[in-house]
Amino acid sequence: MKYATIKGTDLKPSAICLGGGPLGATLGQEESFALLDAFYEAGGNFIDTAKIYSDWRPGERSVSEKTIGRWMKARGNRNNLVVTTKGAHTEMQGNKIIRGSMRLSEKDITYDLESSLQSLQVNCIDLYWLHRDDEKRPVSEILGTLDAHVKKGHIRYYGCSNWKPERILEALAFSRVNGTGCFVANQMMWSLAMPQKELMEDYTLVLMDSGGLKMHTETGMAAIPYSSQAKGLLTKMSDTDKGTDILSSKAFKTYDTDLNRQKHGRAEKLSDELGISINQIVLAYLISHPFSVIPIAGCKNVIQMNESIKALEFRLDSSAIAYLEKGT
Ligand SMILES: NC(=O)c1ccc[n+]([C@@H]2O[C@H](COP(=O)([O-])OP(=O)(O)OC[C@H]3O[C@@H](n4cnc5c(N)ncnc54)[C@H](OP(=O)(O)O)[C@@H]3O)[C@@H](O)[C@H]2O)c1
Repeated sequence: MKYATIKGTDLKPSAICLGGGPLGATLGQEESFALLDAFYEAGGNFIDTAKIYSDWRPGERSVSEKTIGRWMKARGNRNNLVVTTKGAHTEMQGNKIIRGSMRLSEKDITYDLESSLQSLQVNCIDLYWLHRDDEKRPVSEILGTLDAHVKKGHIRYYGCSNWKPERILEALAFSRVNGTGCFVANQMMWSLAMPQKELMEDYTLVLMDSGGLKMHTETGMAAIPYSSQAKGLLTKMSDTDKGTDILSSKAFKTYDTDLNRQKHGRAEKLSDELGISINQIVLAYLISHPFSVIPIAGCKNVIQMNESIKALEFRLDSSAIAYLEKGT
């Protein structure tokens, strides 16, 4: 396993983060423990989760956090992990966001954090994420809430997820002028193949864009992208019968663009040339950027996980990156 750095912290997370969405949900406890064990044995110490995973399903609340909590307790390995989770998500109705129901008051953040500490069965979270933003709320207030929890020892560092780059820059500027703490990492949707934002049901998700790339390049803030493998799309496009058009299927309709078709062709060509899988090209593309990128890989089984971890061995040069992006 390779390890990464997060600027401004002493954390040493594995260079790939295991997506925790399926834990205790689409994967039962036994399968979840097996996946977590395999990741840990491979040197993985960084598992993404959230208070809200997977509350859109019937059954136990915060089941992903609780599964990780039970696993850490059973294995006695908390001190070898970078424990992380997210709170301050909007209200949900089933799996749909309730428009305008942002939850970043001091009360909401504290409520979610206390619940996560219990579910994970820990005293302190190493890296705590705000799952969403509330642009109507001043960054000063939000940072103040988080800094108070750092002081109390509930969290060590904090990051933001689905915050626009301009809001992150505003928070960084406020922190510089006022000597407060600030976000050490940013979690956004980012992969070689990107969906069309205007077709996405969840309007609160933030996708990596030119402003985000500029912000990360200039500040050196770590990027920890989700849907980093574009849900396996480019691999599936090659694996599927040539007669079947997976891009026009319901599951991938937001990704149905000419650019993604072109990127698939280029990734396939580069994969043949370099002798590595298409999915490894997809992950190598992310980690070859000039700032720390730790992809969250949504692997459902050990075979996928091992395949994704192997991608950490590859780096693409700037001409390969330009070729994948623009075909030049
Ligand atoms: N911060 C946020 O708002 C946010 C939002 C969404 C997700 N997340 C986090 O990100 C995690 C992952 O999200 P995601 O599921 O969208 O990520 P993803 O890694 O882009 O997609 C996961 C899918 O990719 C395929 N896959 C996995 N490993 C593969 C491999 N080695 N080769 C080929 N295909 C592979 C599998 O599809 P098949 O099973 O169909 O083969 C898998 O279900 C979540 O569990 C959660 O922790 C965070």
